[in-house]
Amino acid sequence: MTQTKTAPKKLFIKTYGCQMNVYDSERMAEALGGQGYVETKTAADADMILLNTCHIREKAAEKIYSELGRYRDLKDDKPDLMIGVAGCVAQAEGAEIMRRQPLVDLVVGPQSYHRLPEMEAKARRGEKTLDTDFPEEDKFEQLKSRPKAARGPTAFLTVQEGCDKFCAFCVVPYTRGAEVSRPAARIIDEAKELVDRGVREITLLGQNVNAYHGAGPDGSDYTLAKLIWDLDKIDGLKRIRFTTSHPNDMTDDLIEAHGTCAKLMPYLHLPVQSGSDRILKRMNRSHTAESYLRLIERIRAARPDIVMSGDFIVGFPEETEADFQATLDLIEEVKYGYAYSFKYSTRPGTPAAERPQVDAAEGDARLQRIQGLITRHQREIQEAMVGRTVDVLFEKPGRQADQMVGKSDYLHAVHVTGGNVTQGEVRPVRIVSSGTNSLGGVVLD
Ligand code: SAH
Ligand code: SF4
Ligand code: F3S
Repeated sequence: MTQTKTAPKKLFIKTYGCQMNVYDSERMAEALGGQGYVETKTAADADMILLNTCHIREKAAEKIYSELGRYRDLKDDKPDLMIGVAGCVAQAEGAEIMRRQPLVDLVVGPQSYHRLPEMEAKARRGEKTLDTDFPEEDKFEQLKSRPKAARGPTAFLTVQEGCDKFCAFCVVPYTRGAEVSRPAARIIDEAKELVDRGVREITLLGQNVNAYHGAGPDGSDYTLAKLIWDLDKIDGLKRIRFTTSHPNDMTDDLIEAHGTCAKLMPYLHLPVQSGSDRILKRMNRSHTAESYLRLIERIRAARPDIVMSGDFIVGFPEETEADFQATLDLIEEVKYGYAYSFKYSTRPGTPAAERPQVDAAEGDARLQRIQGLITRHQREIQEAMVGRTVDVLFEKPGRQADQMVGKSDYLHAVHVTGGNVTQGEVRPVRIVSSGTNSLGGVVLD
């Protein structure tokens, strides 16, 4: 196909990892929009391929090299094709990527992607660039002039980035850098703009979102709860969520907001990682299983119907069967509506990498056991929704005719047939069935 000069260039972005990468990919697409790029869903017809990568576990990071290898033929066919690597693998091993994979034209870390248009222009001139700085300027401000296209009903909004906690297993403090909070006024402006574009639910993002401490509109030090209360005032915004929180930053005002702010949804992702104090200490988590359980009691006192979610690591160095059993006990006690469990992955440069590792097969066995328990609770909590009436924000048409799917306040996927619902509407739904991954319901008038 021959392209005319005015034809837009096509950008294919593939996103790995957490929600912050999803948000960042949107920002990068908008930044490159200024260079005449429009997004495409297939690598094959792209003029630029950008991988937004995750470094959290070894598998996630290794995947990038095999993915890049797959683009060799495309680049042979289309020598003008630009290939870029962004995100946390770019930050952690940018130079190695350049060395191992000559196909790559540019490498950009999570804190410098506002420089992407400039880097793209250089790459077009045959100059490869690697930018993994933690620059002084505010990347969010640099990206302000964005196209104002209509959007679906839900959006992510980064309010805080980076982490100062240094859990012994985790690369995030190295890949994302130190904790930084955006000023509240900028977040509120961005939220209003999202609502103008059709967004009804905003999920505030941060690697340690509840440690948010940005400047308030009046210059005072803000908390996440204060920010949530300001967002609560935006007409047209129906729901607020936030993720991911650390137990030590669950402040009183935030717990209270769960009981009093109607737009703040009754769902909380609060990772604990392990139920064994011995392991928590080795993980440098600076909380105990007991303090975590008491915290959940307080949260449930404020919002009794809250659905809890968490993250767990099994097979952390020196984890014994007794330690693992303590984790299962904690899960029994909390009963999570959702929980994510991972087998420990040794990450270069982190303190836990130096400790005696647990046998891989034992780690696999523990992962199976923990997932069995989590799935059982997940099902029970989902099935307990049958017969109840819940509010659902409808997000998109379902696979069947006249079907719409959305999410309940508790984040369960819900599908309905009929009922005249439109995208972006919140409607009360009576739940009538519970499937493997979603609920079925009937819209009430
Ligand atoms: N900032 C969040 C999430 C960090 S990454 C928090 O504080 O919890 C998401 C999850 O990945 C973590 O909660 C942890 O369960 C898991 N994880 C992080 N590093 C890991 C590693 N080296 N091996 C296995 N799982 C890991
Ligand atoms: Fe990683 Fe711990 Fe920071 Fe979460 S709190 S990002 S697990 S270091
Ligand atoms: Fe992965 Fe980076 Fe997110 S390592 S989980 S993409 S912060």
